[in-house]
Amino acid sequence: MNDQPRPLADIGVFGGSGFYSLAEEAEAWEIETPWGEPSAPVTVAAFGDVRVAFLARHGTDHRYPPHKVNYRANVEAMRQLGVRALIAPFAAGSLRPEIKPGDFVVCDQIVDRTWGRESTFYDSFEDGPVHIPFADPYDERLRRVVLDAAAEVGVTAHDGGTVVVVNGPRFSSRAESRWHRESGWHVVNMTQSPEAPLAMEAGIPFVGIALVTDYDAGLDEDPDVEPVTQEAVFAVFEANLRKVRTLLDAAIPEIAATVSES
Ligand code: ADE
Repeated sequence: MNDQPRPLADIGVFGGSGFYSLAEEAEAWEIETPWGEPSAPVTVAAFGDVRVAFLARHGTDHRYPPHKVNYRANVEAMRQLGVRALIAPFAAGSLRPEIKPGDFVVCDQIVDRTWGRESTFYDSFEDGPVHIPFADPYDERLRRVVLDAAAEVGVTAHDGGTVVVVNGPRFSSRAESRWHRESGWHVVNMTQSPEAPLAMEAGIPFVGIALVTDYDAGLDEDPDVEPVTQEAVFAVFEANLRKVRTLLDAAIPEIAATVSES
């Protein structure tokens, strides 16, 4: 028997564009961190016997653009609540025709093209150097659980893929988008870094789930595909939000079981 007190939350979920709350009956926590305030109060709700903390990374009114999100405070708030796994759904553009709007990609790699963000908890090496391994940014056990949950609920989820993280808030040019694709990357987003590296520094297993909303700057194979707009991202995310919730409902108990075994 583990005699540690139970944490306030078992699992954390970050909500992205168009995803600002998880459960109707939730307790809101205003959390202070050494890094400042998180993007919003963190709400904690029961999913069966699993307590799930939810935080809208852009704020509940989407006031923080991707380069201004306080990622350190957001991850630290989840750490303070005691979560043992972080699930990060995010809107993404597809760089390939076979990865279609409405599909999920359970990513296994990241390329970070962001700049100027506070992206580490180790701004000082006064207490000794800290260079964390980041070869595998996403937790493989959590990825498998999410893929199994996707199969169970019947949503299309691609197993693996590299997300290239751009600084935004603008979308990519056609040349940038072509370069990302020709580099072998699969989807593009603006927030997975530094969220994923900070989770790694905090020692919290992390899984990123891309919900594809668009084909970025367009597709060379199909000149009729229009470049992405903000309106399209929000509309497609909203149209698929039910699928995101269904996937989370199926994955949450299994993720809780997986991390409690370790
Ligand atoms: N989020 C959703 N679609 C995106 C795109 N095409 N580029 C960057 N971030 C996105």
